[in-house]
Amino acid sequence: MFDLRQLKGADLATELCGVKLQSPFILSSGPLSYAAEGMIRAHQAGAGAVVTKTIRLSAAINPVYHISRVNNDSLINCEKWADSEAEVWFNREIPLTKAAGAVVIASVGHTLPEAEALVLDCEKAGADFIELVSYTEDTLIPMLQATKERVSIPVICKLSGNWPDPVGTAKKCLEIGADAISAIDSIGPTLKIDIKRARPALHSKDGYGWLSGGAMRPISLRINSEIARNGCDNLVGIGGVTCADDAIEYLMVGAKAIGVHSIAILKGVEYFSKLCKDTAILLDQLGYRKITSVVGVALPNFPKEEQVAKLEFDYEPDYAPCVNCGRCVEVCSYDARTLNFPIMEVNQELCRSCGLCVSVCPTGALTATVVG
Ligand SMILES: Cc1cc2nc3c(=O)[nH]c(=O)nc-3n(C[C@H](O)[C@H](O)[C@H](O)COP(=O)(O)O)c2cc1C
Ligand code: SF4
Ligand code: SF4
Repeated sequence: MFDLRQLKGADLATELCGVKLQSPFILSSGPLSYAAEGMIRAHQAGAGAVVTKTIRLSAAINPVYHISRVNNDSLINCEKWADSEAEVWFNREIPLTKAAGAVVIASVGHTLPEAEALVLDCEKAGADFIELVSYTEDTLIPMLQATKERVSIPVICKLSGNWPDPVGTAKKCLEIGADAISAIDSIGPTLKIDIKRARPALHSKDGYGWLSGGAMRPISLRINSEIARNGCDNLVGIGGVTCADDAIEYLMVGAKAIGVHSIAILKGVEYFSKLCKDTAILLDQLGYRKITSVVGVALPNFPKEEQVAKLEFDYEPDYAPCVNCGRCVEVCSYDARTLNFPIMEVNQELCRSCGLCVSVCPTGALTATVVG
């Protein structure tokens, strides 16, 4: 068991709806939460809570192939919900995971009759939360109402970025009594072609699948920031977290906890320990001693209007080393920058102050401030 009390840096302990979490990282619903074993491993690696694979009235049968890699940190999948019966979740998976000390979130989908039939048994089996998932915004609201009538544990509504108005739906869910919002589910439909076989890589009925991992992070981050700006005290940001920097982005836009799945598939579920270690250190370096101090700090800094100005550059290889990688020069579309190491020059006539050179610098040797 990874001991979070031994971590150097900021204190990662936090809470969601008053339930204590050992870290803000939550194993989202997916293949790693197929059964108690995967969820317990995530808990032991430092996850603050674990979400079951989505439980439905009948077990899923998945097509072959149903998961494939996209780039280095993303996936496309057409995996359905849990491939074991609801009774197995009530009698084995949830109780075993609880007995191992994990905070368990029971994911229930995707229709009103299923919420009516399943949520109370999830609570009786020991779940600490219910997370409701549906295919459409219209279904989620009645599912939420039915769930709130049946259970006393907190209810999370999971939103999809594929819906026309996930931010509006979050607002409605909170008004009706959702205790927390999680956002978002994987994005799609999307497509990958297997070029050796000249056919879609996934064998769903149309060949399409749903995108998760690094590629979807900016989409989810924007939706999370809007939900937080509309007022949401218990927000779980999900989508494309691959490292400590990504996690801190979510915390800064108002998420109290961070759902993670794809990177834990690609790197192994023990990757939760690395996420915890790196996040504790990075938060400390940024001047935050605990999770509550960082949640939402970026929200007041969202601009109210477009900014037109100039960039003034600082190139300080003595302060942060320049490794002479040349990236800042290569990415300039306007050929404004030259580096004859250690002499860096910018042609201010050509420079459009786009900021890309600064954002690609791996060491922080090149920085900029906005002037005028
Ligand atoms: C293979 C796979 C299966 C998934 N199955 C479910 C599921 O059953 N229920 C659910 O709510 N989300 C499911 N998800 C979505 C994840 O919980 C999560 O919202 C999404 O993958 C974005 O997070 P990530 O980028 O960290 O993977 C699945 C994701 C993947 C990759
Ligand atoms: S800010 Fe943009 S235009 Fe100016 S040097 Fe950097 S990359 Fe080139
Ligand atoms: S990108 Fe950064 S490290 Fe690389 S050459 Fe430019 S200033 Fe140096």
